[in-house]
Amino acid sequence: MNALKTLDDLDVGGKKVLVRVDLNVPLEYGEVSDESRIESVAPTLVELAEKGARVIILSHFGRPKGRVVPAMSLAPIAPYLSTALGGRKIAFATDCIGEAAQRVVNSLNDGDFALMENTRFHAGEEANDDKFTAALAELGDLYVNDAFSAAHRAHASTTGVAAVLPSAAGCLMAHELAALESVLTTPAQPVMAVVGGSKVSTKIDLLINLIQNVDILAIGGAMANTFLDAGGVNIGSSLTEKDHLGTARDIRSKAEKCGCQLILPRDGVVAREFVSGAPSKVCTVDSVPDDGMILDLGPLTIDAIETAIRKAKTLVWNGPLGAFEILPFDAATSAAAKVAAECTRNGTLLSVAGGGDTVASLRHAGVMADFSYVSMAGGAFLEWLEGKTLPGVEALKDQQ
Ligand code: 3PG
Ligand code: MG
Repeated sequence: MNALKTLDDLDVGGKKVLVRVDLNVPLEYGEVSDESRIESVAPTLVELAEKGARVIILSHFGRPKGRVVPAMSLAPIAPYLSTALGGRKIAFATDCIGEAAQRVVNSLNDGDFALMENTRFHAGEEANDDKFTAALAELGDLYVNDAFSAAHRAHASTTGVAAVLPSAAGCLMAHELAALESVLTTPAQPVMAVVGGSKVSTKIDLLINLIQNVDILAIGGAMANTFLDAGGVNIGSSLTEKDHLGTARDIRSKAEKCGCQLILPRDGVVAREFVSGAPSKVCTVDSVPDDGMILDLGPLTIDAIETAIRKAKTLVWNGPLGAFEILPFDAATSAAAKVAAECTRNGTLLSVAGGGDTVASLRHAGVMADFSYVSMAGGAFLEWLEGKTLPGVEALKDQQ
């Protein structure tokens, strides 16, 4: 990675600074159910304000597809952001460009904050349209991107503005990139990856990139069933992707060629129904009954994964190993996560996790604080694991 400019490289005092953050948080019945993303951008916003900047906050929220969708307004997020900023006042602009935006920006003093309405209410955002970019850039003197989790999108507020205004990475962006770099670019070996989740089809590029970069890859979750199925194992009525059996075979043979050791299930916790508390039993993979579904990894497999984690120096984790959201099928995910947490606490392992359900499963296991780094990113983390370049990050590099 080229060294990116950071907040230290910008002279922000008295300047209007556009800060792209990711406030795309889950909202349930009008309440934010997970404030992690809001809390994670507070350090950048506070630092800018304390240096005397006028902080103009940009974010998308949901996928309104270029139209004003009131349910996707950022207005309800402002009070949460204010709390994360230690109770500081935040002005709200009902549009992110034009007269309404300009009026709010003009009212700011040094050290003040304004939150702009959802950038995706304008079609120009996702189209990365020049006119829309210019309208955003007009509001500020400088640009800071602290939205790693939106860096896989080449949108006006993530890449467009970076090409127009002097730009830098925010603290969270810099921190995310440093953590990710320590895992795949310059890792201590052996490197292990744990990948779970339901579908191989959504993780083909990720698995192919990982087998070329890690020493050991453990595969769990329903996606492991497709690998077993592809190997001719009877997996009963377990979830599988019949049209990806060839993909699974390819990944297996590529792993062998790359010298990447695969850990696949040797046993599973099998039930007849996909419901919480369903009666279940442990079966080795050669004895799954025809009407049985593998909903979690069994003790032999957990043991193999734990042993590998204890030997590893670097761990990257994406996806749950079983149906963790319905008990008791959370056992493998929680057990392996606890071993990773313990090794990290003991200083023998650097552990980085992220993407989709991963954060929820680690939070469920109670280990969030013990991992070296848990990324707030979903799709961006996955694309990074696939080895793709992220346009939001590239746009900051082009600034050098
Ligand atoms: C996310 O939640 O992964 C980011 O905010 C990006 O959102 P998007 O997938 O709608 O672009
Ligand atoms: Mg997404």
